[in-house]
Amino acid sequence: KRLIDHIGLLWTMSSDSEQADAQPLCGRDAMRDVGAMTDAAIAIDDEGMIMAVGKSKELRGLIDGATEVVDAHQGFVCPGFIDPHTHLVHGGSREHELPLRLKGADYLDILRSGGGIMSTVSMTRERSERELYEQAHQSALRMRSFGVTTVEAKTGYGLNVLDELKQLRVAKALELSMALRFVHTAMPAHAVPTDRRGDRDQLIQELADMYVELHKQGAEFADVFVDEGAFSLEEGRYLLETAKNEGMKLKIHADELVALGGAELAAELGAVSADHLLAASDKGLLAMAEAGVIAVCLPGTSFYLQKQPARARFMMDEAKLGVAIATDYNPGSSPSENFSLTMSLALLTLRMTPEEVFVAATRNAACAINRGHMSGVLRPGRSADVVIFDAPNPEYVLTHYGVSHVSKVYVQGQLV
Ligand code: NIG
Ligand code: FE
Repeated sequence: KRLIDHIGLLWTMSSDSEQADAQPLCGRDAMRDVGAMTDAAIAIDDEGMIMAVGKSKELRGLIDGATEVVDAHQGFVCPGFIDPHTHLVHGGSREHELPLRLKGADYLDILRSGGGIMSTVSMTRERSERELYEQAHQSALRMRSFGVTTVEAKTGYGLNVLDELKQLRVAKALELSMALRFVHTAMPAHAVPTDRRGDRDQLIQELADMYVELHKQGAEFADVFVDEGAFSLEEGRYLLETAKNEGMKLKIHADELVALGGAELAAELGAVSADHLLAASDKGLLAMAEAGVIAVCLPGTSFYLQKQPARARFMMDEAKLGVAIATDYNPGSSPSENFSLTMSLALLTLRMTPEEVFVAATRNAACAINRGHMSGVLRPGRSADVVIFDAPNPEYVLTHYGVSHVSKVYVQGQLV
């Protein structure tokens, strides 16, 4: 048993009943409801589940000879962060692309000429499973050091069944070997392979079969890159419908570069989330809210690609969407595992309030990967995934940016 005591300020993200707490907070008013508590403590049982959350004075009564007391030193404490969109497993890096982009080449120009995603595909295919594991393990450790306790990991750098399955196996091996929660997503429709630009129908059919196979091997979600230079709206609809019929949950890389109608498609298919959304239309965002689709904003990606960020204020103020944030960690458009920096960029470039940023990084992010019942909220009965900061308040964490203020991270009650 453990008691995390002397918490100066606790944001539980819990606002209601067990059932309501499993749902995202939608719109600006709800997203500012962080369940704040001062002079607080969290009691954790032997299984790593939360027994009680409350005032320190009251919870100290639970201490007995078997209780380990953890001193939070009057710091700020919140639920472990959820990174609901990453391309964690891949080979190599792409630092050579930045000078090209600074000279005026577009992200899509680089992809069309066989670079971009396709160069990571080559490097990922070449690497052994062991090598991919080592690289992804380093990244996963970095993520966790910033307080991330759950990570979503996509395939999408194999693009053929053997290499897609290899990527999935690496993510599953990481899940088994480390104290970090994983959610697995199949994304074989991430780019059109350079040598497959002729036989489109055949390619789409093979991709559809890959979703089915990846689902059998443990991928819970299906994701498609619907955009100019990638897959069309019709292709996205066909692939995602196939995946849905297999029982997969859906995500879309939607309207990142061009407004193709990815947001509308996410609403039509009842996707769990639509991500990126830099170019999404008002109509598409309103349809998403209507259908209960979560908007996952990726402020690190718009920053690194030097594009206008997603319209998070419209999403929260007008469309009343539930907004989550993620790193989109990948070698081309967001080469950083630093979730803390992502949160600061959400504050500074998406113009979210500190409350909205933390809700987007915890409760809403958990809902964006179908873990609303498990993670993202601190309340009795939930897993004790907790971050203790060496900082007095969340505003300090966000504004003293680019560095880690994490003091301790617990995953299911275990110090990592
Ligand atoms: O989410 N937009 C497509 N896919 C990734 C980038 C992948 C890459 O450039 O390697 C993204 O930004
Ligand atoms: Fe992505």
